[in-house]
Amino acid sequence: MTIDQFNQQAKVVLNQFAADLTGGQIDQTRYFGKKGLFTQLAKQIQQLPSEKRGQAGKLLNQIKRDLTKNIAATAPLNQATQQSIDFSLPGNKPKVGHLHPITQAINQISRIFERIGFIRVRYPEVDWDWYVFESLNMPPNHPARDEWETFFIDRPDTTGNVAYDPKQLTKRHPKMIDGGKLVLTTHTSNGQVREMERLGKPPIRMINIARCYRRQQDATHTQMFHQFEGLVIDKGITIQHLKGTLDYFAKEFYGPKAKSRIRPFHFRFTEPSFEVDFSCHICHGTGFVNGQKCKLCKSGWHEVGGAGMVHPNVLKAGGIDPDQYTGFAFGWGVERTYTLREGLNIDDIRHFYNNKVKFLEQF
Ligand code: PHE
Repeated sequence: MTIDQFNQQAKVVLNQFAADLTGGQIDQTRYFGKKGLFTQLAKQIQQLPSEKRGQAGKLLNQIKRDLTKNIAATAPLNQATQQSIDFSLPGNKPKVGHLHPITQAINQISRIFERIGFIRVRYPEVDWDWYVFESLNMPPNHPARDEWETFFIDRPDTTGNVAYDPKQLTKRHPKMIDGGKLVLTTHTSNGQVREMERLGKPPIRMINIARCYRRQQDATHTQMFHQFEGLVIDKGITIQHLKGTLDYFAKEFYGPKAKSRIRPFHFRFTEPSFEVDFSCHICHGTGFVNGQKCKLCKSGWHEVGGAGMVHPNVLKAGGIDPDQYTGFAFGWGVERTYTLREGLNIDDIRHFYNNKVKFLEQF
């Protein structure tokens, strides 16, 4: 046998294969079985003169690769044809995800405040005791600190890290030995003095949305949650500006009928201080539905968070002269604010963080 004859026979096998391929009926054994077309061709190699066998061997390898590849590619199609699948049936829709409900709420809250000129910022979630407590008029060992169930963390080596380096901090606050302990931020109020330092002087209109951490866990508390903190400082800022801002937020977030209410309270970093309530969307602040006590709120209002006029000591800690400037601040939880929305019936905020797609899909 000559190499030309061998090539000729190889061509016959390949033509046959091409024809089978268009017919869509490739049977593996037809080519690679004991009497398969390829097996037969491969046997011929012995009849070639020895110097031609290398050339023929290469060709065989190439053909084998091509055949196996094509058979593999057509295999599922063949199986499908055999089981006569109904191709006219509608396909499976790929699942499309969406942003987590709390991320959606954070985005909405940012937009609402950005529309009235607030600047969205974020500050460290692991911060010095100084920013979380002391600069907010809470000296070490002050009992007010107990209201925040604080996580303390072991101090890492902060050398060279400008944001956390005690030396940098004492440069800015010469009376301090260093920033004190490191804590997980218990509230977003740590952003108050940081924002005063960032801008140097008023006007300040900050909205700080970040994660907070407290040692508590039940249906209305998770150890990690989010807060948003507003801070406005300028000449002539009064409680009226605070009340106007709260009302604006209530209407933007809960709808045109929503109202806000402030009640006297106490925080170390504001004077006077208030608790902030929003009207219940079921009874609109009346506490009654058709002569019956409203089942959702019982009083007409839902308490959401705290607010007040920035304490002069806090302004001083941020390098702002309290004789020239005044300001207001407010802050509370994103999760709580969100669950009070009309139509949501979420009885346990832990649902937001247990990663059950069935729950999250609904938003
Ligand atoms: N930081 C307070 C809290 O977490 C809320 C607050 C913010 C109060 C700003 C007054 C001013 O409870």
